[in-house]
Amino acid sequence: MFDLKGRVAFLAGGAGYLALPVCREMLKQGARVVIGDYHKDNLAAAVKELTGEFSNEVVCGIDFDIGNEASIVDSVLEVVKRFGCLDIVVNATFYSIGKPVSELQAEEFDRANRINITGSFLLARAAAEAMTKGGGIILFSSMYGLISPNQADYPEGIDKNPVEYGAGKAAINQLTRYLAAEYGKRNIRVNAIAPGAFPWKSVQSVNPELIENLAAKSMLGRIGRRDEIAGTVVYLASEASSFMTGQILSVDGGITAW
Ligand SMILES: NC(=O)c1ccc[n+]([C@@H]2O[C@H](COP(=O)([O-])OP(=O)(O)OC[C@H]3O[C@@H](n4cnc5c(N)ncnc54)[C@H](O)[C@@H]3O)[C@@H](O)[C@H]2O)c1
Repeated sequence: MFDLKGRVAFLAGGAGYLALPVCREMLKQGARVVIGDYHKDNLAAAVKELTGEFSNEVVCGIDFDIGNEASIVDSVLEVVKRFGCLDIVVNATFYSIGKPVSELQAEEFDRANRINITGSFLLARAAAEAMTKGGGIILFSSMYGLISPNQADYPEGIDKNPVEYGAGKAAINQLTRYLAAEYGKRNIRVNAIAPGAFPWKSVQSVNPELIENLAAKSMLGRIGRRDEIAGTVVYLASEASSFMTGQILSVDGGITAW
């Protein structure tokens, strides 16, 4: 049911903290995977790691920038050229400035929206055009597209999860519903995942107070582990979720359910 044998997946931001375990799990389920990322070193490291575990017949990397429309269109064409089709697209990129509301410039807010919202839209549209036999589009939202961060949880000096980030994630939720309606008749399902608190290892080691605060907000009393998103992405990409579209699935230890 969760089998992805014969499927071709493109993971935008695939070299990242949450997306790399997703790539690995998709490969385990039999998919062929193209990792698209603009961080060249991380991309090379991710491809090296996964070709070592699997083979370069089933995984490769593309230098990809979701902020650039030509790069989006070219990358989708490149995936089809490399593996013959495109069945699944995942967007795990994000962009934020990190300034307080009072200091955020209009151009900075526009730039974040261009990458987070317009980039997601352009990638989903280009992918849908290439999906001739149906497919799956999975966008990464966030709990902060559903709720606002409580500033009190963020100790002084720590990025308090800025407004341009959450506003972009809320837009991705609505983009998901609109695109699901647009592409449903072509059997292209569009869903989003809203992760809760999955702070990077670097954040965990230097901010124990933040980790404690975020853990306390979860019904499970802890933050998420890096590999706890992959199963949900595989579920949304596979036949196991064949009647699901237009949904925002929270993977947040219950933070948004109190
Ligand atoms: N980690 C969390 O706690 C958390 C919580 C909620 C939502 N999310 C969402 O999950 C997704 C993955 O987050 P993460 O924590 O793994 O972050 P990450 O920074 O480790 O991964 C993001 C990846 O996207 C790539 N990227 C960024 N901008 C790009 C661009 N313009 N073009 C191409 N690639 C680009 C980065 O190089 C990186 O590899 C994001 O959408 C994020 O908003 C994360």
